[in-house]
Amino acid sequence: MANQVLGIDIGGTGIKGAIVDIQSGEFLSEKIKVATPSPSTPEKVLSAVTKLIASFSWEGKPIGIGFPATIKHGVVMNASNIDPTWVNYPIESIWSNQLKCPIHVLNDADAAGMAEMKFGSGKELTGSTIFLTLGTGIGSAIFVNGHLIANTELGHVIVNKKVGEKIASNATREAKEMTWKAYGKVLNNYLKRIEFLLNPDQIIIGGGISKKFEQFRPQLNIQAVISAAKLQNDAGIVGAAVSYVNQE
Ligand code: BGC
Repeated sequence: MANQVLGIDIGGTGIKGAIVDIQSGEFLSEKIKVATPSPSTPEKVLSAVTKLIASFSWEGKPIGIGFPATIKHGVVMNASNIDPTWVNYPIESIWSNQLKCPIHVLNDADAAGMAEMKFGSGKELTGSTIFLTLGTGIGSAIFVNGHLIANTELGHVIVNKKVGEKIASNATREAKEMTWKAYGKVLNNYLKRIEFLLNPDQIIIGGGISKKFEQFRPQLNIQAVISAAKLQNDAGIVGAAVSYVNQE
């Protein structure tokens, strides 16, 4: 079984990678980041990922990839924050052939959530936990007693007739130049809707915005225990790598 896996996190704005020790979750290399190409078509993203992999000298070795869409049996099922030509693209088989490396691809939020549950603030949590990444969109991962229910899309839940990620993502906060207080109120409405539908025991807020958790926490008023992710922006890379050996 592989102990070292190259983890790659493909996002709406950036693609990041690092070699990960999958027992400890620690990086064994520096983290390298390249911009997500525009338009973010399969060919252009593959070319950016090929260059990223080359900088790690990683020929023929295992790679785990987190991707910002639902992935079923290695195929991309939807495309909200990436080019629409990704829908129905068999990423796992095509990329394994092109990159000449064994790869496993999963949803980016599922990857980040797995890392947070194994190495971060979700460690040893029981009951039901919802992990949310608030970035370009909103990604979600649900865990029941540590077991992942994959491919949930809670960023697309409708709140006051609007798509959740269109009103409560970090990208929207930035675009609308919201104060932390204003953003906290919007996020609280979104979380209340999630709580009404799913009643989790815990909610963990992930993504780069988790560094600023204390700024909007005072506006959050829900029953579930709420906390910030510990792994922040590295969770996606670590989880993608770990998922390689924990394929469902
Ligand atoms: C996508 C999800 C993804 C999330 C975060 C959403 O728009 O539908 O699959 O996890 O963005 O990237």
